[in-house]
Amino acid sequence: MPFANVSQGNVDMLDTTQNNAPIVQMNNIEKHFGNIIALAGVSFDVRPGECHCLLGDNGAGKSTFIKTMSGVHQPTKGEILFEGKPMNFATPRDAMEAGIATVFQDLAMIPLMSVTRNFFMGREPTKGSGLLKRFDVDHANDVTMEQMRKMGINLRGPDQAVGTLSGGERQTVAIARAVYFGAKVLILDEPTSALGVRQTSNVLATIDKVRNQGIGVVFISHNVRHALAVGDRFTVLNRGKTLGTAQRGEITPEELQDLMAGGQEMAQLEGSLGGTV
Ligand SMILES: Nc1ncnc2c1ncn2[C@@H]1O[C@H](COP(=O)(O)OP(=O)(O)O)[C@@H](O)[C@H]1O
Ligand SMILES: [Mg+2]
Repeated sequence: MPFANVSQGNVDMLDTTQNNAPIVQMNNIEKHFGNIIALAGVSFDVRPGECHCLLGDNGAGKSTFIKTMSGVHQPTKGEILFEGKPMNFATPRDAMEAGIATVFQDLAMIPLMSVTRNFFMGREPTKGSGLLKRFDVDHANDVTMEQMRKMGINLRGPDQAVGTLSGGERQTVAIARAVYFGAKVLILDEPTSALGVRQTSNVLATIDKVRNQGIGVVFISHNVRHALAVGDRFTVLNRGKTLGTAQRGEITPEELQDLMAGGQEMAQLEGSLGGTV
């Protein structure tokens, strides 16, 4: 278990059981871009085997928040704990090496290249050595086919171009890749926002598979129904702030929708009153 090294004295206040301790805990995170306050003190954590949904309207600060969690941004203020210890990720690679994998909104895949090439991009397995060292295509192909099959996708072949996959299947390539390379936390930034109903349900089923392997999933969405279909906990972000976190069963779809919509109405009101509320 990844928590074997959490010392008894350091078990955090929220937890009674050690193996449910957060993998990542973000405390009072602020992020300022010049005069713009994108995050105004957000607390959030993710535990093994759960799907924690981060909800909020466009511009709420969701992407900024997860970029802070994954080393793209450094927080202006606040504290990040990884497996109970203070952590400062200087680069996305640092976060990735610790086991935080992020599937960003733009996916960062090359459509003309094969699924296998995309799956292993930057981490190609090799065989041979010296001048004979080369990409181990057969091994990479086998792994790709097998990992995609585990996620419920039967590729026509490993050399199928990523550009020929559906949006949902592309998300699944990115997710399967993160899981294969040992993610402890998987962050998905709006994976379902551009998908139809069938593809959305495939991605949600994939999230469930990932969670069942003990990985902590951070699922970002502005769609309450998508979040409720798979989430264990829900945090709504509203103009860089949150009102706390609800457990599954503690909150109705209407309440969750109101939390998001309420903020929007508030923003409109503020706008019409000249931003003085
Ligand atoms: N690099 C940046 N520089 C300046 N402002 C930014 C930057 N990134 C995000 N913002 C601002 O922070 C706010 C939150 O944006 P974002 O995190 O993308 O929201 P969301 O993902 O919830 O739609 C927005 O007002 C956005 O314009
Ligand atoms: Mg975003």
